[in-house]
Amino acid sequence: MAIVLGIETSCDETGIAVVEDGRRIVASALASQVPIHAQFGGVVPEIASRRHTQCISQLAQQTIDEAGVAVEAVAVTIGPGLMGSLMVGVGFAKGLAYAWNVPLVPVHHIEGHIFSVFLSDNPPTFPFLALVVSGGHTCLIACDEPHQYRLLGSTRDDAVGESFDKVARMLELPYPGGPSIQEAAKAGNPRAIRFPRGLEHSGELEFSYSGLKTAVLYARQRQTASIADLAASFQWAAVDVLVSKTQLAIEKTGAARLVLAGGVAANRLLRERLVAELPIPVHMPHLSLCIDNGAMIAAAGDSRFRHGLRGDFRVTPDPNLPLCNKGVRS
Ligand SMILES: Nc1ncnc2c1ncn2[C@@H]1O[C@H](COP(=O)(O)OP(=O)(O)OP(=O)(O)O)[C@@H](O)[C@H]1O
Ligand SMILES: [Mg+2]
Repeated sequence: MAIVLGIETSCDETGIAVVEDGRRIVASALASQVPIHAQFGGVVPEIASRRHTQCISQLAQQTIDEAGVAVEAVAVTIGPGLMGSLMVGVGFAKGLAYAWNVPLVPVHHIEGHIFSVFLSDNPPTFPFLALVVSGGHTCLIACDEPHQYRLLGSTRDDAVGESFDKVARMLELPYPGGPSIQEAAKAGNPRAIRFPRGLEHSGELEFSYSGLKTAVLYARQRQTASIADLAASFQWAAVDVLVSKTQLAIEKTGAARLVLAGGVAANRLLRERLVAELPIPVHMPHLSLCIDNGAMIAAAGDSRFRHGLRGDFRVTPDPNLPLCNKGVRS
């Protein structure tokens, strides 16, 4: 049995959690900066790192006190992400691991998102196909065995979460865009406008979201459709591409199960359509674990710890850290 403390500070959430065996959350705390950045319409890196510095000690103390168990390893996100924000988490993790004399386990942020599914009631077994959809990533990854990943395809331009955020801005909906577009779309007709699906017939597993975003901008400028119809039609098109590219990846690889992860994995339409339309089981994290959090980093760290993949105190943050040998592009 391993008790791992996970620390996540790569962007605008300070997440700390104590996890047992990579499966059970003993204690966790999350300080979201969304209200602070919302007034700027996006994350301001300088403010993000300062805020992590202000709250990380208290958040960690609260989590450790609540857990009331001895921690055997400290896992921390070392990249990708914002340099200043990563430095706060990595520096803090080094201090804790050194003081407690326990191993320091470096974790890739996207590996953390993938491992959030092991904290659900229905964890997958390896091998599986992962669809990672977030603010900075849109990719299909073959997860052959723990910590062995092959990138099958990623986005050539915007990430899908980024396109939700940009389109929300065009529609004057609040930041972050994903939840507000989902809400606005409830009252709209998803078939009101047929927006373009990027690289729809390319036969490749690459994604493109910039054309869709521009098409929404032009439709908005024409002022012929309601905000609800624009939101619903955009959401349908964005999800359509994710479903069809995942279907193609299953055909190409013969994958037996899918893991959905990342912030956009909270999207209700995406969750429902993947389950309804894919021929294989879909494993998804709890809604609360789709956004960045410390528990997913602890879960990935637990597996790395058990596989002997520990770091040392020379580890440094890498804002562009690749997950696969080929490298995960945005
Ligand atoms: N219900 C939803 N529907 C669609 N998108 C959503 C939903 N909830 C959140 N999102 C999107 O998820 C993104 C945030 O996800 P996450 O926190 O994983 O991103 P990140 O950590 O900034 O990026 P990355 O994980 O790639 O480094 C935002 O773009 C947000 O709009
Ligand atoms: Mg993330």
